[in-house]
Amino acid sequence: MLAYLNGQFLPRADAAVPVEDRGFVFGDGVYEVWRVVGGRLFETERHLARLSSGLGELRIQAPDLVDPERLTAIADRLLTEDGLLDGEATFYVEVTRGVAPRTHQFPSASISPTVFAMANRFKPAEPLRQSGATCITMPDIRWLRCDIKTIQLLPNVLGKQAAADAGALDVLFVRDGVITETSHANVLAVIDGAIRTHPTNNLILAGITRAVVLEIARDHGIRVDETPFAPSDLSRASEIFLAGTTTDVMPIIRVDDIVIGGGRPGPIATTLFRELRRRLDRLAHERAGRGAATASA
Ligand code: PDD
Repeated sequence: MLAYLNGQFLPRADAAVPVEDRGFVFGDGVYEVWRVVGGRLFETERHLARLSSGLGELRIQAPDLVDPERLTAIADRLLTEDGLLDGEATFYVEVTRGVAPRTHQFPSASISPTVFAMANRFKPAEPLRQSGATCITMPDIRWLRCDIKTIQLLPNVLGKQAAADAGALDVLFVRDGVITETSHANVLAVIDGAIRTHPTNNLILAGITRAVVLEIARDHGIRVDETPFAPSDLSRASEIFLAGTTTDVMPIIRVDDIVIGGGRPGPIATTLFRELRRRLDRLAHERAGRGAATASA
């Protein structure tokens, strides 16, 4: 497998960053994950916009890869050489502030950011989607800028591990009495026939899949109410589902001891997954005769 690191393509095993990289020392960086179908990046621009906004918030100099043509050229080469033009993959990009002697404040000299990218094979979570998955709840102990996709993911790692230890797929984080999101996906509920989900503010990541799924819902005349729901609302939710780049739409049939929707995936999650899958499949089929990853998605 290949890696892209600071302008160079090299075997992933040989890709290394200095120990004083501020990503390694402070978690001082941001990342993005794209879904790739048939060699094409899904929602190229929206992910890039989020990456640029995160870099801006952290005042990290934007590397040339934030340009869609440069990004897709890098993705093309990784996907091609790693044999990932067919089927499903993910494309990961990480940008850290760069390498400098350890001091909390930004380095005074102008340093170049460290830029890393890789592509990986991805397998969607079938057949779990057909049966539906389970979640646990846990306090959301993350910081108050969850809208920035930083590489500081320790509460997310601990949450996901707690879920795995409990035999569940993921954790629903609870802050101030409401459910925010999961370790790496957004969470939506169907209550009184409408989709309820946490609004995009500083307490959640504004998921691209969340945005796509809400678009699809509105197109289908499904009411959307971006008001958070509480753990106490779970027992009256007819559906709960997750949305994320590596999650697609995943029905949740039990949270802690509360069975949701009679323990079966519900019609709204099923419709939204089908339509999301259609968009992915359409993108994959556009590849014929047009090269691999391109800017439009
Ligand atoms: N995670 N919330 C959190 C905390 C996330 O980390 C993610 C994505 C999402 C969903 O966002 P999107 O639909 O844009 O992928 C929500 C990525 C996939 C990850 O960490 O692997």
